[in-house]
Amino acid sequence: MNFLSKEPLVQVKGLKTHFFTEEGVVKAVDGVDFEINPGETLGVVGESGCGKSVTSLSIMGLVESPPGKIVEGEINFQGTDLTKLSQKEMRKIRGNDISMIFQEPMTSLNPVYTIGNQISEAIMLHKKVNKEEAKRQSIEMLEKVGIPLPEQRVNEYPHQLSGGMRQRVMIAMSLSCDPQLLIADEPTTALDVTIQAQILELMNDLKESYGMAIMMITHDLGVIAEVSDRVAVMYAGKVVEYTDVETLFKDPEHPYTWGLMNSIPKLDQTVERLEAIPGSVPSPLNFPSGCKYNNRCPLATDKCREIEPELETISEGHQVRCWHYKELERLKNERAETAKIK
Ligand SMILES: Nc1ncnc2c1ncn2[C@@H]1O[C@H](COP(=O)(O)OP(=O)(O)O)[C@@H](O)[C@H]1O
Ligand code: SF4
Ligand SMILES: [Mg+2]
Repeated sequence: MNFLSKEPLVQVKGLKTHFFTEEGVVKAVDGVDFEINPGETLGVVGESGCGKSVTSLSIMGLVESPPGKIVEGEINFQGTDLTKLSQKEMRKIRGNDISMIFQEPMTSLNPVYTIGNQISEAIMLHKKVNKEEAKRQSIEMLEKVGIPLPEQRVNEYPHQLSGGMRQRVMIAMSLSCDPQLLIADEPTTALDVTIQAQILELMNDLKESYGMAIMMITHDLGVIAEVSDRVAVMYAGKVVEYTDVETLFKDPEHPYTWGLMNSIPKLDQTVERLEAIPGSVPSPLNFPSGCKYNNRCPLATDKCREIEPELETISEGHQVRCWHYKELERLKNERAETAKIK
């Protein structure tokens, strides 16, 4: 698919969201750039602590403030910079144009109301319909998200449903306003693999029928492969690689992306041979100077420890933040040789 010809729905430019804490300034998001076109799924991937959730909360206008604050950058959504809007204006955007689903639906569903009540309420917020009609539409929504016996389920409470079914209810609620953008933050992480695959398939189907864009946040490259058109790989509060999903898997150019790929189990590899990236994501309170990946990177040089690289376009539609991405070819070849010998 060619996404370059369309006007982007969302354009995030140089976004910085920092938390001003007693320990110091936590630069959770520190210069993030990406865009999402209408109807496109952007996968956002990176290890825990890379700033994925804070990026999405920034778009939603839900960063806890204080201590958090968007200190720089723009979030252009259909021509409006969301960082300039009041709380009230943002509430309107959240209710009508952008919705979000989270990892654990139990925290977003109210345990004391039936799911029918909760979906009806979401519907009545957006459409001028009476209670009966809202309930009828709720049943229809439950059916659309693949909940069996929707006439019966509509009268049940959240705790009566399995984790997978609750996530389907959350998806139904988030779609009730017919959003242009759905942000899904690790929506399948709490689910077992089979249910996870079903939910991802459902999201792909709904995207086709509703035509919305999706920002899919996950630490799991398997999920990325399943749903994304383009992918932003995040590390330490920044995008380090950004390209279409085919190119990312065929030809990762950032050492971090490559490291993540090497930690996915493959059918022909035993678990022992997996190489997780050494160390962990540094705390935003003390990022290393220069490239923030330099303490874990097999290609790091003195230059990397001194100067941070910019996100550079290396070919059409492919951006990488690395001084030595061309050197990665050598490591890839070495690995292929070793694999042959074994
Ligand atoms: N309210 C907060 N106060 C201080 N630090 C925060 C707050 N929320 C997030 N952070 C920090 O920001 C960084 C990025 O967090 P987050 O976006 O949740 O990561 P991810 O979603 O990629 O796992 C982490 O180091 C986290 O500890
Ligand atoms: S800039 Fe240097 S340390 Fe950073 S990813 Fe590239 S090679 Fe590694
Ligand atoms: Mg998160």
